[in-house]
Amino acid sequence: MQELASKQLREHNSLAVVANCQRLFALEQINDLPALTQLKLEQPLMLGAGTNILLRADYPGDVILNRLQGRQIIDATDKHAFVRIQAGADWHKTVLWALDKELSGIENLALIPGTAGAAPVQNIGAYGVNLSDSLELVEVWDRQRKQALMLKAANCKLGYRDSLFKQQIDRYWILNLTLKLSRKPKLRLNYSGIKQQLLANGIENPRPEDVVTAVCQLRKRKLPDPAKHPNAGSFFKNPMVTDTQLKRLLNQYPDLPHWPETENQTKLAAAWLIERCGFKGKRVGAAGIATNHALVLVNYGQATGSELWQLAATVQAAVLQRFEVKLEPEPRILP
Ligand code: EPU
Repeated sequence: MQELASKQLREHNSLAVVANCQRLFALEQINDLPALTQLKLEQPLMLGAGTNILLRADYPGDVILNRLQGRQIIDATDKHAFVRIQAGADWHKTVLWALDKELSGIENLALIPGTAGAAPVQNIGAYGVNLSDSLELVEVWDRQRKQALMLKAANCKLGYRDSLFKQQIDRYWILNLTLKLSRKPKLRLNYSGIKQQLLANGIENPRPEDVVTAVCQLRKRKLPDPAKHPNAGSFFKNPMVTDTQLKRLLNQYPDLPHWPETENQTKLAAAWLIERCGFKGKRVGAAGIATNHALVLVNYGQATGSELWQLAATVQAAVLQRFEVKLEPEPRILP
């Protein structure tokens, strides 16, 4: 394990906010974990690629970059393979690795920025597929019990952008994931955008690589590239409303996009609510809302974390006032 000379977090958060921490460490091999846990760490924060955080100010503690690398097939049956992915491995490269090994199930999650270890925290999902559809096990370091634990996915409280790791955010450090992937193509094409993209590409009988290509095309068209326009993906979760709230909203806004989720719970499109409040493409200094997707907060230059947060809070207040719907941030707001 290495203590880095720099304490600067700009390169370690995809919103490119300038902020410092107290000390910055890199965890490069699992054997370094005992030494790390022996250190007197101040409010330790384990970070992957920092693609789902907003630093409103300097972080008043120590940050550990999870750089545990490696992917391997650990077991296989006729139909499935179990693969273990170390937490610091890049997620999109993991999708490409699975494709190369002819293992199917995570194609729709291509191009999601960030590391594999961050994926279960918010149960990443896109185009009709969630990580929970293929997650089997998560190995964690339990900071309370001071031991490594292997948790079954069924015990990880995985929900819509939610998990045990998010609910008890300071308790667990994710070390690796085990995914159950299919040895036969298992394509999920129900999301209409994917079907349309495949058709536009002239593909009638898609293979897994065609789905990866289509998903990458969709994301590149719909979402700003964090490398060019620093962002943290969707900044708010899509809100759930009760039947009573839905009825009231539909009376006033008959074209409101909505998807039944569970009994008496319907999901709304946060992007639509935000766009209707006039924020799409709006900028306040260097903080802005993406021009191509109203759910994405963008740092167009030197916006501070506090300026970005202020814009997000303005959006939240406007949506609450107009629709009486509370938007909840998706990224972790720090400190
Ligand atoms: N819409 C607008 N204005 C916009 C964009 C979208 O009104 O600027 C409306 C449209 O009606 C559209 C609906 O919002 O039908 C939903 O939009 P989209 O399909 O882009 O999906 P989303 O609900 O905004 C979610 C995830 C994304 C994921 C996509 C695709 C959340 C918070 N976000 O976005 O995940 O890529 O679905 O499955 O659930 C992320 O979590 O960071 C993320 C990018």
